[in-house]
Amino acid sequence: MASKLKLFWMLPVSFLLLSNCLHNGANAAPQVPCYFIFGDSLSDNGNNNNLKTLAKVNYLPYGIDFPEGPTGRFSNDRNMQDVIVEYLGFQNYMPPFARAQGRSILKGVNYASGSAGIRDESGKQLVLYGHGARKFALYGIGLIGCTPYAISVYGTNGSPCVDKLNTNATLFNERLMPLVKELNTNLTDAKFTYLNPSPSPQDVLSFVTNSTCCEVGGGGGELCVRNSKPCSDRSRFVFWDAVHPTDAWNELLAESAYRTNSTSEAHPFNIQTLAKLK
Ligand SMILES: *[C@@H]1O[C@H](CO)[C@@H](O)[C@H](O)[C@H]1NC(C)=O
Ligand SMILES: *[C@@H]1O[C@H](CO)[C@@H](O)[C@H](O)[C@H]1NC(C)=O
Ligand SMILES: *[C@@H]1O[C@H](CO)[C@@H](O)[C@H](O)[C@H]1NC(C)=O
Ligand SMILES: *[C@@H]1O[C@H](CO)[C@@H](O)[C@H](O)[C@H]1NC(C)=O
Repeated sequence: MASKLKLFWMLPVSFLLLSNCLHNGANAAPQVPCYFIFGDSLSDNGNNNNLKTLAKVNYLPYGIDFPEGPTGRFSNDRNMQDVIVEYLGFQNYMPPFARAQGRSILKGVNYASGSAGIRDESGKQLVLYGHGARKFALYGIGLIGCTPYAISVYGTNGSPCVDKLNTNATLFNERLMPLVKELNTNLTDAKFTYLNPSPSPQDVLSFVTNSTCCEVGGGGGELCVRNSKPCSDRSRFVFWDAVHPTDAWNELLAESAYRTNSTSEAHPFNIQTLAKLK
């Protein structure tokens, strides 16, 4: 079971890079010239579609609300990074690396993959610093112990979530925060920020948190069953499948990452501020 968990949820950490790349100065310019995304299935937008892995979702009901249908996003519609790309003012979502070609890659690429490993990501991050990326957002791990999948695998022993998983997420985050600080100190020409967006308790109250919108059993047991019929009130569910949030929840996460003033959710900058820094 442990290896399955490792395969499917890895660390929901995304490194996003707002770098000093070329841009063509066209009208309605986005707030940053380009945007590169690294991460796992929470950010993947199709990189796994042609890989030999169980962690792929280019089938209905994934994408049921997305104009292009099932693209490989682990959501009914957009993922959190798609929403942030919109907030930053880009006209299009970042192309998945697997399909990226031509001029579109000058604006950014999404390298996130449902089986990504953190080591690869850190490696690429440093490579991008070498290529001129100067703004970095590193995401902490959310409450992985509260996913329906974690609860079904570990049980909760009376508490609402799997405490030992959340404790480990917190331990990870508590080491990531000082790392971000150290990177800001060491690399003075670059800006790093730590993000761990968490919607407010009021927001949580208006959502269903204790069940999944789709019928799960696909993949390793945590993904939607192919062609199954999902819930109709998708905007009220936190969890689309047993691990990944709905579009509605992703929007709240993105909104917080972009705008929050809470230092526990964004430190030292939210994305809006990071994007504006000279
Ligand atoms: C939590 O982290 C510890 C130390 O790395 C590890 O031994 C343990 O297996 C982790 N717990 C879970 C539930 O993954
Ligand atoms: C920051 O610089 C110090 C001193 O050179 C070094 O020991 C440390 O490993 C660096 N930290 C990072 C995260 O690069
Ligand atoms: C989920 O929570 C609601 C409200 O607390 C409750 O009525 C419902 O029975 C719960 N559903 C499950 C599957 O536990
Ligand atoms: C954050 O602080 C700024 C400046 O004080 C304020 O304009 C903005 O409305 C605040 N944002 C939120 C989401 O509270």
